[in-house]
Amino acid sequence: MLEIDKKYVWHPFTQHQTADEPLYIVKSKGVYLTDINGDKYIDCNSSWWVNIHGHNYHPLMKAIKNQLKKIDHIIFADATHSPAIKLAKQICELLPVEFQKVFYSDNGSTAVEVAIKMALQYWSNIGNPKTEAIAMRGAYHGDTFGAMSIGERNYFNKPFEPLFFDVHYIDFPDETNENQILKEAEEKFKTGKIAFIILEPLIQGASGMRMYSCEFLNQLVRLAKKFDVLVIFDEVMTGWGRLGTWFALHQIEETPDFICLSKGLTGGIFPLGVTVTTNQVYESFLSQETKNAFLHGHSFTANPIACATALKNIELLNKPNVWKRIKSIENQLSKFVSKHITNPKIKAIRSKGTILAFELDGFEETDYFSKNNQLYYKKLREKKLFIRPLGNTIYLNPPYCITKKEIDYILKNFEIIFNL
Ligand SMILES: Cc1ncc(COP(=O)(O)O)c(C=O)c1O
Repeated sequence: MLEIDKKYVWHPFTQHQTADEPLYIVKSKGVYLTDINGDKYIDCNSSWWVNIHGHNYHPLMKAIKNQLKKIDHIIFADATHSPAIKLAKQICELLPVEFQKVFYSDNGSTAVEVAIKMALQYWSNIGNPKTEAIAMRGAYHGDTFGAMSIGERNYFNKPFEPLFFDVHYIDFPDETNENQILKEAEEKFKTGKIAFIILEPLIQGASGMRMYSCEFLNQLVRLAKKFDVLVIFDEVMTGWGRLGTWFALHQIEETPDFICLSKGLTGGIFPLGVTVTTNQVYESFLSQETKNAFLHGHSFTANPIACATALKNIELLNKPNVWKRIKSIENQLSKFVSKHITNPKIKAIRSKGTILAFELDGFEETDYFSKNNQLYYKKLREKKLFIRPLGNTIYLNPPYCITKKEIDYILKNFEIIFNL
């Protein structure tokens, strides 16, 4: 099979000329991935941050089977179905009261793409066609053209850069520059040309699990609102309990105008994205003219099986035992941070909710494909831990069903890595 894989398959984010053979996984259960040799690996990053309840979790499997008996897939224009209706209602009920409309798409990138297009068309529809955007340095919002345009410009997207739309970037906030960033943002907002600002709230994922404060986010959103700039929260990574609350927005007082969700939405089983917004935005698309409607859609919009799985995910997350696990993971990780915060071998260590990240010291190179991260990757793989470092940042982002003992095992191996 691996030979056939090599011959026919083109993997994502992979330099095939130098990449090692991929793990050939034949089974997934709970936090474990079993390969063809029978070796069991802990899925330390929930398979790209999606699998929140563990693999092949019976209640989710049952929901899928039940839905399969009813509707497989149907067009979502001029037709609707109960899993999509119920899911839209339940998502809105989880969010602040302003959120009243759910638009379905396929993944995180499309959820973001939809938010960008809705924000721009909102201004066009109300006769004030603002077109400029603000994003944060280091951002990652996906790999479609709009999502790439508002992300960090780097070698991941260099060949396409001439075709990106212009974006104003604000710096990533740390304790030293927050006031300066707010001042610069205010200057840009004051021009009256900014249609929207997009943010990964409280933590930037792909740029290395970088965390920033609730106070800063509150101030920035408040400022944007003051100058009538739409705010998009990309909660594709931060949603569904990952940060210790249902969504990052539950940790601040201000509310955005759009929230983009995906990854854990279906418990990480089916691709599904949603862009949730307010009636104020929605009503600007209502008109006698078709051209004012949101003329966007995907063939698999609101796939019934994905929606039914997402409904079961919400039901599972409504149970206190999941939040007890999330809290326990959070405590265990924050204790590890306290233990190592002054460790001279580590440049930085941090945790938030169920995410732990650390950067190792002594390496200048922070390239995504750096040799150092390949070294850690291999060492941890020998210990049957499946990770994917982000540059010199190693992180843990596990399914919530992981046990204390399994986390202890991972942390013990991280300590070995510190001393390499
Ligand atoms: C914050 C954020 N937004 C968007 C995306 C893109 O999601 P997808 O890979 O499902 O297109 C990601 C993916 O990692 C992400 O972390």
